[in-house]
Amino acid sequence: MADFSSLGLSDWLVQQCKQLGINKPTAVQENCMPAILQGRDCLGCAKTGSGKTAAFVLPVLQKLSEEPYGIFCLVLTPTRELAYQIAEQFRVLGKPLGLRECIIVGGMDMVSQAVELSNQPHVVVATPGRLADHIRSSNTFSMSKIQFLILDEADRLLEQGCTDFTKDLEVIMGILPAKRQTLLFSATLTDTLQELKSIAMNEPFFWESTSETRTVEELDQRYILTPEKVKDAYMVHLIQTLTDQHDDWSIIIFTNTCKNCQILTMMLREFNFPVISLHSMMKQKQRFANLAKFKASVYKILIATDVAARGLDIPTVQVVINHNTPGLPKIYIHRVGRTARAGRNGVSITLVTQYDIHLVHVIEQQTKTKLKEYPVEEKAVLKILTQVNMARRQCEIKLESTDFDEKREINKRKQLILQGKDPDLEAKRKAELEKIRSQKKKFKQKIQEQVQRQKCGQLKKKPMKRQHVKATE
Ligand SMILES: Nc1ncnc2c1ncn2[C@@H]1O[C@H](COP(=O)(O)OP(=O)(O)OP(=O)(O)O)[C@@H](O)[C@H]1O
Ligand SMILES: [Mg+2]
Repeated sequence: MADFSSLGLSDWLVQQCKQLGINKPTAVQENCMPAILQGRDCLGCAKTGSGKTAAFVLPVLQKLSEEPYGIFCLVLTPTRELAYQIAEQFRVLGKPLGLRECIIVGGMDMVSQAVELSNQPHVVVATPGRLADHIRSSNTFSMSKIQFLILDEADRLLEQGCTDFTKDLEVIMGILPAKRQTLLFSATLTDTLQELKSIAMNEPFFWESTSETRTVEELDQRYILTPEKVKDAYMVHLIQTLTDQHDDWSIIIFTNTCKNCQILTMMLREFNFPVISLHSMMKQKQRFANLAKFKASVYKILIATDVAARGLDIPTVQVVINHNTPGLPKIYIHRVGRTARAGRNGVSITLVTQYDIHLVHVIEQQTKTKLKEYPVEEKAVLKILTQVNMARRQCEIKLESTDFDEKREINKRKQLILQGKDPDLEAKRKAELEKIRSQKKKFKQKIQEQVQRQKCGQLKKKPMKRQHVKATE
């Protein structure tokens, strides 16, 4: 197996890696780094926790040390927390260089960010929305000479999900030089391969791990089949069992909405579990603070939406619980990938209701792994069922009495304003669309009813015909 020196890294970088316990390159590093050092564009698809970050950070630092200037490299990533994590890797590995990096993400002070950008940092790590805002609003910095553009979690940046980055990416691409190296990494690149190839200008080097499965072998993947109404009781029982057995384990619980995240946090606190939450309706400073407390094991349980599903590297996480079965296999892969990283073991447990069984089949097909049942003592769950459901209801009432929904509305309006849209006009447009949709639905129903009636009519006529034939006979 190759070592870092033979891949083309200088001694100071090899030493720096050693200090962090990075001694031998992982497969994605061994395969992608030489191509990047040769100046090629690169698409790297490797499983969660396999060291993709170092696979791009190390060659960038190597090249930067040969010709240091700012702004040398731009890294784009879908979430703010991930931007901070990547910047930290650059900072730690690039310390001997006196590396200056700058983080440009939403929810933080824009003026100080603008000052930092104008000071020509070597590396800028950004979420697309905020960087595009800076580009639109100021001309105090230039990215026309960057050598590297990196898209970490590249498929998420290009897909049109609930946060659509395409407009912001267009703005950013507009100020980047055509002559650059483009590096794209993710654990799930394959769906968006064609779009990604078009972003990488030159014929890119493409590397994908050859493994049959799409999740890591060290991950024990389980499910619990539960009726929807009993789901929370199963979860409380499960957390109780896990924390009783392993008091040093950290757990991430993923759920589908900010509101659910908030309610589950309140509810689990009622049962005295050490929980803290992370979702996009929280103030950014609170988000960072909560994540820091979870990383430092001050709180052992993090309840999060998919804002925490990608990229976060927290070695203490032993268990991932999916409070809802993810609708897409890709989301499942990233969520469960928060544990069993860098060769460590981990467990994922997905709560599956009667409505989710088909989703599990799709996940199993795509990941090429069979989920095993997690044994649960049903009697113990039924014992706490009433108490848990009452606690949930009380938390829901408590939350309704706060202005949580109102805040969500305000947030939505803010987002629209930031996108340059008029919230009232958008609301009108939405209502009109809704009206057209419901008219279409009614129309469809009417036609179906008519067709049905016609069919019935024909059926009724048929026996009459027969009777008629009989009569003439
Ligand atoms: N060569 C190596 N040897 C040992 N550990 C490594 C090596 N390279 C990276 N690591 C460590 O592995 C962990 C996971 O790395 P990283 O976060 O880069 O994974 P990833 O592939 O980006 O995962 P994800 O798809 O979830 O983003 C980190 O803690 C990192 O320090
Ligand atoms: Mg990563």
